[in-house]
Amino acid sequence: MSRDVAKLAAGNAAVALVEDGMTVGLGTGSTAAMFVDALAERVKRHELREVTCVATSELVAARAIAMGLKIVELRDQIDIAVDGADEVALPEFRLIKGLGGALVREKIVAEAARRFVIIVDSEKLVDRLGIYVPLPVEIVSFGAERTYRRILGLGVEARFRSCPEGRKVISDNGNPIVDCYIGPERDVAGMSGLIRAMTGVIETGYFDTDVERVFVGDDEGNVRQLVAPTRKDGVGGC
Ligand code: 5RP
Repeated sequence: MSRDVAKLAAGNAAVALVEDGMTVGLGTGSTAAMFVDALAERVKRHELREVTCVATSELVAARAIAMGLKIVELRDQIDIAVDGADEVALPEFRLIKGLGGALVREKIVAEAARRFVIIVDSEKLVDRLGIYVPLPVEIVSFGAERTYRRILGLGVEARFRSCPEGRKVISDNGNPIVDCYIGPERDVAGMSGLIRAMTGVIETGYFDTDVERVFVGDDEGNVRQLVAPTRKDGVGGC
């Protein structure tokens, strides 16, 4: 419950960045859902008239449409993307994402966005990625068992993500997801690079995409704003 307060506070804070006429990337997950609701509320109150959205999953698209937001295809650069994360490593602003299974679309939308903004509760902040949560990896369904065994060959513990009844979880792109347990002995960036280089691997949930800022909510509803020190296009830096 208190984590919900934190997520709500972070989502509400980030929505102030949206301006009329923007195309907004909507992330997937419980925190991103709070942002969707806050954005829809601003539209409903006529604070924003011309906002279009790009969704990173079928689930968030359905929620956004139900809330009266307009969803469009991703065709080009977008103004801003706001998404949650499973872990945020500081001070590098690197992320693990994908426990919600939407990592591929999330990474595409993040890269398409001029401004990539993360909203989390304070429990997501870590010094080092991959110790507490696995690194999600989406692999092509054709030959998935072989690709999975090749990942195991790197010496990491890995499992196909599955539902409680044992079925493999399948992403919106029709592919299985393998959760890789990196642990303290290895480096997530390095392992992600090795895994991504394999034929049959689509993408990993390691994000070294330019994050502009992170809104961190706490269980009392306060929000801290952390701005990344350097960005290629000069945004940020305060
Ligand atoms: C989905 C994601 C989510 O952003 C991540 O899992 C965080 O979710 P939540 O806000 O529910 O904790 O990467 O693929």
